[in-house]
Amino acid sequence: MNRLRTQVGIVGAGPAGLTLGRLLHRAGIEAVVLENRSRDYVEHRIRAGVLEQGTVDLLRELGVSKRMDREGIVHDGIYLQFAGKRHHLPMRELTGRSITIWGQTEIVKDLIVARLADGEPLLFEVDEVAVHDLESERPRITFRHEGEAHELACDVIAGCDGSHGVCRPAIPAGVLSEYSREYPFGWLGILAEAPPSSDELVYTHTPDGFALLSLRSPSLSRSYLQVDHDEDLGAWPDERIWAELQRRTALEGWTLVEGPILEKGVTGMRSHVVEPMRHGNLFLAGDAAHIVPPTGAKGLNLAIHDVRLLGEALVEWYGSGSRALLDAYSETCLRRVWRCEHFSWWMTTMLHRLPGDDPFDLKLQLSQLRHVTTSEAAATMLAENYVGLENV
Ligand code: FAD
Ligand code: DHB
Repeated sequence: MNRLRTQVGIVGAGPAGLTLGRLLHRAGIEAVVLENRSRDYVEHRIRAGVLEQGTVDLLRELGVSKRMDREGIVHDGIYLQFAGKRHHLPMRELTGRSITIWGQTEIVKDLIVARLADGEPLLFEVDEVAVHDLESERPRITFRHEGEAHELACDVIAGCDGSHGVCRPAIPAGVLSEYSREYPFGWLGILAEAPPSSDELVYTHTPDGFALLSLRSPSLSRSYLQVDHDEDLGAWPDERIWAELQRRTALEGWTLVEGPILEKGVTGMRSHVVEPMRHGNLFLAGDAAHIVPPTGAKGLNLAIHDVRLLGEALVEWYGSGSRALLDAYSETCLRRVWRCEHFSWWMTTMLHRLPGDDPFDLKLQLSQLRHVTTSEAAATMLAENYVGLENV
């Protein structure tokens, strides 16, 4: 057994783990990041693409925004389409803030390059990761890497290992309260070599279900279709995907541009939160602690917000010996988590075709959609949540 020592052991090299590693490095705090997948895998796992201003600001502060500043696309609004009409929601006008379109894969690539350039430890393809002695002053992580067994002694462990990781399940039974909601639908997402057909994102409510038009660059579009929770991707040849996207986004005088589909996948939707986001010296961050349905584009932004707070708390502790921010970490994070859980649930239930096609539900959805597209107060409520609330 090879025995190692660090200050902060970070499990998971997704956006949360890598951003935390960067924050700590900039403050002179040592960390080791352990990732069970390959570098290639984490750099090409297509997921989120909408960044709140706070996320953009943090990436800038951390010196990893060069490509994002050059190639990221700033949007000042979104479209909501329902009952055959497309309505513009001018988010910047309503809130003073915008969103930036920049793929999670690109954030991850830049953070990996920065960490390796700094010579900071980041191990890919580790196996048998397990966390121990969480309630002690010296929690440990054991793992195998390149055929050898290692033990990493830490002051603190950051569980940034996503929803299927090992950190959350290592917390003894009875400690965590869990809150969850399953939705009877999922999203079929595609990345296509086709210029975006709309200048801003389009969220559509139709009798056939939800659809979303997004993008990754001036030549790559990203689109989503509501499908069943465990939909078989095999039932969706490219022609069927385009036909359905055409149908759900159709508008007179406007055309959806098609192109070769480069990637497709189905994700089931759910909401899940555990409380507290800490046990002893294990701190959970990002998807390891909470999942939101993607309709509000919040998952990645929440993960980054958690680690910003965790980073600040660790900097304070190592700097002054005060555990005040660490002790407040879970409660502070959870305020924003629950705001985003509500917003994501609300957007999801407003925009998706609901099981049973209950006409009462449909009338409520349409009334809500009309409200947010006609009342400035209601539009502002949606917009300020979407661009990211300050001080929550
Ligand atoms: P992750 O990105 O999941 O990173 C966790 C990391 O830990 C991974 O690299 C994983 O390989 C690693 N890991 C897991 N187990 C171990 C272990 N035992 N040891 C070491 N490492 C481990 N959000 C949106 O806003 N819009 C979207 O369109 C969108 N699409 C999504 C599609 C999918 C399929 C999924 C799963 C999520 C999607 N999300 C989306 C949510 C968003 O991508 C996540 O909220 C975000 O990735 C959270 O970052 P994270 O770092 O907390 O977790
Ligand atoms: C994207 C994903 C989302 O969940 C969303 O609400 C908007 C855009 C995207 O991947 O581009």
